[in-house]
Amino acid sequence: MRRKTVLVTGGAGFIGGHLVERLLQNYRVVVLDNLSTGKMTNLPDHPHLDFIFGDVSQEADILTIFENYQFSYVYHLAAVASVAASIEEPLVTHQTNMDGTIHILNAAKEQASTLQKFVFASSAAVYGSEPTLPKHETSAIAPITPYGIDKYAAESYVLAYSRLFGLKSSAARFFNVYGPRQNPQSPYSGVLSILTDCINRKIMGNEASFQLYGDGSQVRDFVYVEDIVAGLILLAESEESQAEVFNIASGERHSLLEVIAMYELIAGEKLSLTQREERAGDIHQSYADITKIEKIGYRTSHTLKMGLRKYHEYSSKAYV
Ligand code: NAD
Ligand code: UD1
Repeated sequence: MRRKTVLVTGGAGFIGGHLVERLLQNYRVVVLDNLSTGKMTNLPDHPHLDFIFGDVSQEADILTIFENYQFSYVYHLAAVASVAASIEEPLVTHQTNMDGTIHILNAAKEQASTLQKFVFASSAAVYGSEPTLPKHETSAIAPITPYGIDKYAAESYVLAYSRLFGLKSSAARFFNVYGPRQNPQSPYSGVLSILTDCINRKIMGNEASFQLYGDGSQVRDFVYVEDIVAGLILLAESEESQAEVFNIASGERHSLLEVIAMYELIAGEKLSLTQREERAGDIHQSYADITKIEKIGYRTSHTLKMGLRKYHEYSSKAYV
């Protein structure tokens, strides 16, 4: 049978690479990426994968792709994913995160009659630091950064295009995603990629100290990247997800100190911690209610302990 074709923007990134790997089991996949943070090494060499170097903020790049392919699904993940970068360069970020989304939506709506779903990668950042917990999809929206503001505007556009033009769509608000191939290089990288890097450097006999911002009592909902991928595919394939927004998280909550202790036990390595001032704007507690996505069939397959074990196993091999 002929494979359906799927577009993944940002497919060469951390989450995108995992999604593409999974989609290639059933689909022909087209990746659009400008490799600003993504890497070709995040993508497998596969006969059903087409990589297109292009920029979502350039209308011409998008139009060419939609002229050349008829898509069954679009997963729009391309974004400046760093909150810090969005604060330093709000306009540049906006061109990708907002304008880029509108370009993709405009092209996708021309295929609305055959497109089965447009899935958008939004973020828990839309909730900001408003303190009511856990975060439900109906919780107050109070983004505190250009990144969060653009994510909320973009997800609103996606749902508006469903109402206005009949584009079938869903938006997913990811909480703290972690797993293999997450890049630890910036101080604003996901904390678990930084912890993983510190642990592996120590295992290799190098000096490594983890900078703990605040007292470690901050609470997060860490979700393993494969669970994000499963959630995204569920949203694409479910009819009940139409024109709705969903949290994707683990539903578990842990303080940073608990996570560090768990990781040390798994890796058999004690970390040296250097305590620093709490980061400006750091959210003290962030965790999700995932009842809405569970009602349409989502189940987390990784507890934090399982996810950390898998991540450690993968990354300790990658360091050798
Ligand atoms: P990532 O930086 O690894 O992936 C983003 C990808 O988009 C990269 O491959 C990058 O090269 C590409 N890209 C950036 N600008 C582009 C442009 N103008 N045109 C084409 N491609 C472009 O980040 P990630 O963690 O894999 O994030 C994927 C998506 O998930 C993003 O939309 C991000 O905002 C969202 N998200 C991530 C997290 C997380 O914890 N990692 C949490 C919430 C939401
Ligand atoms: C994460 C997302 C962000 C989103 C927010 C919404 C990442 C990288 N960022 O931010 O896009 O807006 O959720 O809830 O996933 N920390 C340390 N030492 C370090 C690094 C971090 O102590 O070296 C602390 C941070 O101060 C923070 C916690 O660890 O309290 C988690 O940090 P981080 O992984 O950067 O994610 P969030 O700040 O939760």
